[in-house]
Amino acid sequence: MNDMPDFALVEVVSPFAGCVPVQVTINGVRHALELEPQVTLLDLLRERLRLTGAKKGCNRGECGTCTVLLDGLRVNACLVLAATVDGRQVTTVEGLADGDRLHPVQQAFIEHDAFQCGFCTPGQIMSAVGCIAEGHAGSDAEIREWMSGNLCRCSAYPQIAAAVAAAAKRIG
Ligand code: FES
Ligand code: FES
Repeated sequence: MNDMPDFALVEVVSPFAGCVPVQVTINGVRHALELEPQVTLLDLLRERLRLTGAKKGCNRGECGTCTVLLDGLRVNACLVLAATVDGRQVTTVEGLADGDRLHPVQQAFIEHDAFQCGFCTPGQIMSAVGCIAEGHAGSDAEIREWMSGNLCRCSAYPQIAAAVAAAAKRIG
């Protein structure tokens, strides 16, 4: 958990007709929004709330750079309509650290040098958090299988798999 207050309420009012009301908690902060129905969760995060950790790579569910947790489960934010997250909890990479203390997965990525350019890294980290929570980090092969939706153009896969394995051990 981060140290953001859980009572913050952010209002974003769209001037367009046909908007739908959406209340969503993102990284522990409640947001009351009026959104056009076609807005994706990724665009809500990046373009409206300025949470740019989740990256827009393919924008069609193929690369995993936009991975966030929705009620604790991994999703590609580019494939989720923001209107469908009403009443739900979203966690992005910005919400992982506890103040200055990094999440064990973040720490493991640093210790194992599990990135080069870093573009895929927020998605890799969020996917790794989900992968470990799902119990799919028992071996190198299992990690590679269950992280296969997250592509890395720098091909840092050995280091990423090692970091996930180390974090899984640390988290227990
Ligand atoms: S940007 Fe969402 S999967 Fe590629
Ligand atoms: S570190 Fe460059 S794409 Fe993964």
